Amino acid sequence: MKYEQTLFLADNWEDYALLDSGDGMKLERFGSQNVIRPDPQAFWRPNQPVRSWKADAWFDAKAGDDERGEWRRLNPRAPDTWPMEWNGIRFEARRTPFRHMGVFQEHAVHWAFAQEQLKKAGRPAKVLNLFGYTGLMSLACAQAGAEVVHLDASPKSNGFGKDAQSLSGLDDRTIRWIADDAMKFVAREQRRGNQYDAIILDPPKFGRGTKNETWRFEEDLPGLLDGVASLLVKKPLFVILTAYAVRLSHIALAQALGDRMKAFGGRIEMGEMALPEEKTRRMLPTSICARWRAD
Ligand SMILES: C[S@@+](CC[C@H](N)C(=O)[O-])C[C@H]1O[C@@H](n2cnc3c(N)ncnc32)[C@H](O)[C@@H]1O
Repeated sequence: MKYEQTLFLADNWEDYALLDSGDGMKLERFGSQNVIRPDPQAFWRPNQPVRSWKADAWFDAKAGDDERGEWRRLNPRAPDTWPMEWNGIRFEARRTPFRHMGVFQEHAVHWAFAQEQLKKAGRPAKVLNLFGYTGLMSLACAQAGAEVVHLDASPKSNGFGKDAQSLSGLDDRTIRWIADDAMKFVAREQRRGNQYDAIILDPPKFGRGTKNETWRFEEDLPGLLDGVASLLVKKPLFVILTAYAVRLSHIALAQALGDRMKAFGGRIEMGEMALPEEKTRRMLPTSICARWRAD
C-alpha cells in the first residue's frame, strides 16, 4: 500500500470563514452569523484581541465538559436558525448545546473529493455514510449522482438531513436515512450481501447506538474496518476515515485502513484536517484522516 502525507484543508467556502483565532478561542462566520467558541488548540496569539471580536453569539463551555455548554446571544436579534449553502446544498445552521453549528465545516474538503471521485467514476455508485450525522456528506454524494445509505444512531439528526435534502432540491435522489448502530448495521449488510462502491466513516471517540450499544473508538475500530472492507465491491472508488479527539496519530489510522485495503491496490492519503484562517496564513487543526482511493 502506498502512503502519502497530506494536509486536508477545507478552503474555498463562501458561507464559512475562520476569521481569527488565539488565546484558546476562535471567531468564525457561518453564513450571516459570527460566533465565538473556545478551542483549546488555538493557544497562539489572536490577530486582534479577543475582546475586540464582533460576534452574534458566544459559547461558554461547561466546566469539565468537552462538548456541552451554553450560548450567550450578543446580538439580541440573532436568529435561532439561519440558511447556509455549500455548492448548491442548502441547510439550516443552528447553535447547538454541543458547541457545534449543525455543520462540520472542515469536512467540506471530503465533500468535494467525494463528488470529484463519483463524477470521475462515470458509473452508478452506491455510497455508505456511517456516523453520518448532519447528512451533508450524504447530500454531496447524492448531488454527484450516487445512491446513498446514510446511517446514524440519532433519528433526530436524520430528520435534519432529510430537511436539508428537500431544501437542496434533491428529493428525487435516493438517500436511505437509517437510524441504527453502525456495527450492527455493517454486520447485517454483510449477511445480506449488500455492497458499496465507497464508504465514509467519521466515528466519535465514544458513542451509543440506537439500543444503547457502546462505541469505543480504539476498541471497536478494527472490527468495524474489517466489516467495512468486506462490504466493498471488487473495484471500489474510495474510503474516508476521520477521527476527532482520539489519542492516535493519522499514521495509525492510515495503517489500520491500509491493512484492510491491500487487496484493492490504490493508495492512502493521511494527515491532519485543518481550517485556514482568513487573511493570515495560519491554520486551525480540527481532526485526523486516512483516505483510500483507487487511482
Ligand atoms: C463526529 S459525528 C459525525 C459528523 C459527520 N461527519 C458530519 O459531518 O455530520 C459522530 C456521529 O456518530 C453517531 N454515533 C455515535 N455512536 C454511534 C453508533 N454506535 N452507531 C451509529 N452512529 C453513532 C452520533 O449520533 C453522531 O451523529
